[in-house]
Amino acid sequence: MYKLLRDALFLFPAETSHHLALDALKLAGKTGLLGKPQAIPGKPVSVMGLNFPNPVGLAAGLDKNGDYIDALAALGFGFIEIGTVTPRPQPGNPKPRLFRLPEAQAIINRMGFNNHGIDGLLENVCKASYQGIIGINIGKNFDTPVENAVDDYLIGLRKAYLHAHYITVNISSPNTPGLRKLQYGDELKRLLTTLREEQAKLAEQHGRYVPVAIKVAPDLTEAEIRDMAAVFSSVGIDGLIATNTTLDKSVVQGLRHADEQGGLSGMPLTQHSTAVIRQFRADMDSQIPIIGVGGIMSGEAARAKLEAGASLVQVYTGFIYKGPQLIRACVEATKKAG
Ligand SMILES: Cc1cc2nc3c(=O)[nH]c(=O)nc-3n(C[C@H](O)[C@H](O)[C@H](O)COP(=O)(O)O)c2cc1C
Repeated sequence: MYKLLRDALFLFPAETSHHLALDALKLAGKTGLLGKPQAIPGKPVSVMGLNFPNPVGLAAGLDKNGDYIDALAALGFGFIEIGTVTPRPQPGNPKPRLFRLPEAQAIINRMGFNNHGIDGLLENVCKASYQGIIGINIGKNFDTPVENAVDDYLIGLRKAYLHAHYITVNISSPNTPGLRKLQYGDELKRLLTTLREEQAKLAEQHGRYVPVAIKVAPDLTEAEIRDMAAVFSSVGIDGLIATNTTLDKSVVQGLRHADEQGGLSGMPLTQHSTAVIRQFRADMDSQIPIIGVGGIMSGEAARAKLEAGASLVQVYTGFIYKGPQLIRACVEATKKAG
């Protein structure tokens, strides 16, 4: 059934199908066709101090403004991450900026954090009736110099604090020039230390601790992972999300759209992101949980992420190619994981 729908949707340019599908889903939700926003019963897990009804979440970037929270929740996710959102609205990169590579079950995107700004997103969170776990993924505006990125993350952290169950600091999008520089050395340490201090202040002020996770790229050498893991362990983050999209397009070479600029996701990323998770798990403080994402196209791939050391998983490209049945397949497969 989803395959028929997908084949029809794939007749449109990728970004048009994205909006058509999500608007149709929202309409189905409003007319009661989807039922209540409810997680598929799975193996409940407690991670970052939060209780997840099942470990299968929606990755950031599909619902950048929190427009579709209830409709997506009705598909059974254990948690939903919205954003990336920036302090001010911004249009993102010129279109076309989203490309399907169906032969590889992959996507290349260079969206560039198109979003309506954090105030708009928070209004949507308040309107949603979903009671489950929401992560808000924050980023910097494209015209904020990378040296001042911390100011944008502080705005995001303060504003999102009381509206999120956890907050993700995205320093790994390949489509905001300079952003990935924040993943290294002193810049990483400075950024995280400042955010941790602010988080402690906010926790004190509001009497509520909201965990902060960091989302990293897959394009890291072993030495870079070791250095980052050391910083994460010493600063003490609440969670690591691994990984974002990759800039390595070697495996899709020769396919239509393979030369488009942007980050590659889906099947070609599966093994690589699992390897990154495995190394972070070996190098980082074992108390810091990992959320595994990248090329989960099947239940087995979700289980492989858990076996590599993740405590939760997220899907994006697999959800586009396989549809809502992927969520159930992942929930079932993760029930059987160790
Ligand atoms: C079209 C598109 C937009 C994305 N936007 C974001 C984003 O705004 N923020 C973010 O942290 N990750 C974003 N991602 C990355 C995904 O959350 C995920 O980390 C990555 O695609 C790997 O998972 P997948 O192979 O299941 O898609 C985006 C991915 C795609 C395909």
